[in-house]
Amino acid sequence: MPIIYDEAHRAFKLDTPHTSYVIAITDDEGFLGHAYYGASVSDTDLSHLLRIDEPPFVPSKNDRERGSFLDSFPSEYPGNGVGDYREGAVSVRDADGHTAVSPLYVGYRIEKGKPDLPGLPATFGSGDECETLLIFADDRSLDLHFTLRYTVFSDLDVIARSVIAENHSDKPIYLTKIMSASIDMDDRDYKMRTLHGSWARERVPGLADISYGKQGVGSVRGESSHQANPFIALESANATETEGEIYAFHLVYSGNFIAQVEKSQFDSLRVMVGINPQEFCWKLEPGETFDAPELVMTYSNEGRGKMTRTLHDLYRGHLIRSPHRSQKRPILINNWEATYFDFDTEKLLQIARVAKECGIEMLVMDDGWFGHRSSDDSSLGDWVVNENKLPGGLKYLVDEVNKIGLKFGIWFEPEMVSPDSDLYRAHPDWAIAIPGREACLSRCQLVLDLTRQEVRDYAYESLAAILRSANISYLKWDMNRQLSDLGSAALPADRQGEISHRYMLAVYEMQERLVHDFPDLLFENCSGGGARFDPGMLYYSPQIWCSDDTDAAERLIIQEGTEMCYPLSSMGAHVSICPNHAVGRVTPFGTRANVALAGTFGYELDITKLSDEEKSQVREQVKLYHKYNDLVREGDYYRVASYAENRLWDCWEVVSKDKSEALVTYVQVLGRPNVHSRNLRLLGLDGSRRYRVYIQNDDSCQAEEAEEIYRGDTLMHAGIQMPPLWGDFRSALIHLTAADQ
Ligand code: GLA
Repeated sequence: MPIIYDEAHRAFKLDTPHTSYVIAITDDEGFLGHAYYGASVSDTDLSHLLRIDEPPFVPSKNDRERGSFLDSFPSEYPGNGVGDYREGAVSVRDADGHTAVSPLYVGYRIEKGKPDLPGLPATFGSGDECETLLIFADDRSLDLHFTLRYTVFSDLDVIARSVIAENHSDKPIYLTKIMSASIDMDDRDYKMRTLHGSWARERVPGLADISYGKQGVGSVRGESSHQANPFIALESANATETEGEIYAFHLVYSGNFIAQVEKSQFDSLRVMVGINPQEFCWKLEPGETFDAPELVMTYSNEGRGKMTRTLHDLYRGHLIRSPHRSQKRPILINNWEATYFDFDTEKLLQIARVAKECGIEMLVMDDGWFGHRSSDDSSLGDWVVNENKLPGGLKYLVDEVNKIGLKFGIWFEPEMVSPDSDLYRAHPDWAIAIPGREACLSRCQLVLDLTRQEVRDYAYESLAAILRSANISYLKWDMNRQLSDLGSAALPADRQGEISHRYMLAVYEMQERLVHDFPDLLFENCSGGGARFDPGMLYYSPQIWCSDDTDAAERLIIQEGTEMCYPLSSMGAHVSICPNHAVGRVTPFGTRANVALAGTFGYELDITKLSDEEKSQVREQVKLYHKYNDLVREGDYYRVASYAENRLWDCWEVVSKDKSEALVTYVQVLGRPNVHSRNLRLLGLDGSRRYRVYIQNDDSCQAEEAEEIYRGDTLMHAGIQMPPLWGDFRSALIHLTAADQ
């Protein structure tokens, strides 16, 4: 049983295959204490870790020091304003204007499987795969009830938490903060891992010392953001890919969030993750409930790699619902970097014809096909095909593309409106804005007030009508600006603080309708590149566009940070033209493909302008995709070297679950003179098996070369040698197949 309640010691023990999590309740007061999270332990009574038999003792023994007790007690879900001066997980404003809240234990229930989180994305699992503990805790003064939910997976080291608040009183209560989880633990010199960035530089791995006070990452942009992923991890000081302790916290949410660590006067840490309380105030009427989004937690004492593989398995097996999750995606060619807004039917058909000759399987028409949009300053909201560009309409184009033998995909930005649009002229109040205050434009557009049912119905129906109008196989759902000027013409004054979260619920509702109405559609989320690359989006789409930076060298860091948490099967990656449009860099064509092969794979260039030699390279790259994608999509990921850290070279590896095959991607970022070959110690192989090793440089993708046979232990402990490659940004694929097959 993954969850047990030890009645004698008033303790819950949650066990995953290699971890334990223990919650204990103090005898008299019903304080919920966090006793332990870490490597598996056998005992349930860990109450000594709560330090309740040390001064200042529990209030039932020493009430005069109640404040000192609360301010140091490791709390499972701390309240606010009653004596614990660390940050609380929940705070309120009640009908009298008071802010205090203190949830105390009242009971529990254990259920097989995992209940849904209505309206929110969440991991899922059957009764055989997981079990859920519901702990009920009340604030008796407010008559506000909390359900703390813990789902424990039996085949993965994952605990998924969420919190539900329910107003049992007869007056409204305003929730001003409700975190998805909080966890207190002693600091053991941990460091804080984050994924930070910017537009075109998303998810850069960062590691920082933890100092006294609060530190962390967050977003108030109305999206999880380019700037910070909703992820935080504590790493022991010595942690590497293969060794050390990691506690990882990942929020299944796509909007405003905080992920914070607070170090206290007693050297304890409090980690807290949830909806950002800034720009949040939710009115809970009597009888109403509020569901906080889900937080995924995993612990590894085998380094960061184990955390990564656990999250990959969780998301592939228990979050991404799309049937495409476990299928090879059609190799697409997207016209964005090929033409930007300057295209018409004939240009797209020219691209489609050459793409077909090269083995590409789908054409995606990006931004600019609707209204009178010929730059980014108009027409969002007017989802009518521009027949000047597409004479004969969308159906004609799609049919012609299908006749060429390609599938067809389309770009859409349903959440937005341009001031220069018929939609905005007809419904200026449909944009998020504050009356009397000029709303801030970004990319010359405004955000639709999707909190209004009629607005999201319009946006969704516009999208659905286009999808129904032709044989469309793929959708790129884009979102190209952040929220600001938070005002909704439809909400009363005391609900304006709900806009950011209501907006996210609205996006989720629209995407739920989409996957319900178009179950076979291949759906890719995108947000100005990767501003909504988060677990919430993966619940709806099996893949997300990683970044608008398609330069192979820049992508090494972006993809390294992305792969740290997200499966390769979800990572939108394309080969683009050089000099690269984002950085002006020239990299070998083969390296651009080798880097994109780590993701969904496709092209983002004008294929009609490629030389014959380049086109024949595309044909070979297409073969590589077909040869390796099953392995890349389904295998276990290992990072061998980090260019983000060493700034010289990069290396990652994917090993099949049965360890019969592996693909290693090696990138020598800068060439250097007079250097030795580089020793690569591989990871994750079966030490006792013999592997054939083929090394294929980026300029020789025609055939596998240089076959050697080694035992797995030799490859992992002694390693193989990569000779220096001539030039910068050179790369190689190293393919290993078990020789006993
Ligand atoms: C965003 C996307 C790009 C492209 C443009 C179109 O920036 O990330 O891939 O679709 O929008 O405007």
